[in-house]
Amino acid sequence: MFEHIDAYPGDPILTLNENFQKDPRANKVNLSIGIYFDDEGRLPVMQAVREAETAMLGEIGPKPYLPMAGLAQYRDAVQALVFGADGPARADGRIATVQTLGGSGALKVGADFIKRYFPDAQVWVSDPTWENHRFIFERAGFTVNTYPYYDEATGGLKFDAMLAAIDALPKRSVVLLHACCHNPTGVDLTQAQWEQLIGVLQTRELLPFVDMAYQGFGAGLDDDAFAIRELARRGVPAFVANSFSKNFSLYGERCGGLSVICDSAEAADRVLGQLTGSVRSNYSNPPTHGAKIVAKILTTPALRQSWEAELASMCERIARMRTTIHAGLAGHVPSAMLARYVDQRGMFTYTGLKAEQVDILREQHGVYVLRSGRMCVAGLNDSNVGPVATAIAKVLATA
Ligand code: LMR
Repeated sequence: MFEHIDAYPGDPILTLNENFQKDPRANKVNLSIGIYFDDEGRLPVMQAVREAETAMLGEIGPKPYLPMAGLAQYRDAVQALVFGADGPARADGRIATVQTLGGSGALKVGADFIKRYFPDAQVWVSDPTWENHRFIFERAGFTVNTYPYYDEATGGLKFDAMLAAIDALPKRSVVLLHACCHNPTGVDLTQAQWEQLIGVLQTRELLPFVDMAYQGFGAGLDDDAFAIRELARRGVPAFVANSFSKNFSLYGERCGGLSVICDSAEAADRVLGQLTGSVRSNYSNPPTHGAKIVAKILTTPALRQSWEAELASMCERIARMRTTIHAGLAGHVPSAMLARYVDQRGMFTYTGLKAEQVDILREQHGVYVLRSGRMCVAGLNDSNVGPVATAIAKVLATA
């Protein structure tokens, strides 16, 4: 029966992370997966999460199914955070939002929806992009292509080439974009570049699908959502996936959202209905616990303040690790490849290390980085950053 099923080659991120857990070496360092660790190398429980969850223990009650679209209070809080509490599209009722299983769940529900209503569309992702973007859209039945994005020579953006490629796409092509903290490169568009790109998306009648998995890790909660709010303000129909895995450190709770910016409140109603149909046929309805935590924090002023302050301190720690590894590598890495450690934003630096160098780094030094060269800077801390810099310098000197 199962002879024709080939072995799963593993996932470039999650399998590597699982292999890291099995590695018996005491000095191993995990810079593979996009997870924020604190300075002691621990996965933090944010204070606001602890308080919200503790309060919820006093509210234990029946556990019915949630509606297919998710917890109403959570959906509203998602919209307010992503689009701004007073965003015009929100006030007009033009946004359809469903609760999803993390950002990946949002991408899948959105992909299924698009496949159903735009069956001939193809998908365009940045070169490179998060590996799972391709997997999700291909498995939803799409042909996935790339548009130019990262410039290896400069460690920056090939904006003109990106714009020209997108400007040449057929109408209703799906263009996958990263709102902020581009994964894997850490290279983002400026606000002026977003304005230009959004003009092209609108004129060419393309369908943007914006993934925002790192809101708050780039330029701040509001600025990170600039492109999304601009799309909404300019009335460009668009899909938006967002995730609370990283900014609430709630990875396993699978808290995300899918929002669709529509032309009218009436269209948003129909889109919302069909999104719930897509949820129903995937997993019926979403789980309750994590959504309650997030909704409570986002709607309780004291908890929200605590959450924002802690998130800001996480970003400060990442920035400090960027400057520390930058200093540690100075003189060992060509200057063009050095600047990216401080210039790139969010959790990742695209180091430029080749796959073979990454393999040596892992095998000989216990430092885990993705084979694409992506390093999760949020896994560095005061104890491991020195040894990591030394290991990279050694690998570069020999391989
Ligand atoms: C990552 O890019 O490492 C994270 O988003 C985790 C994942 O699911 O790949």
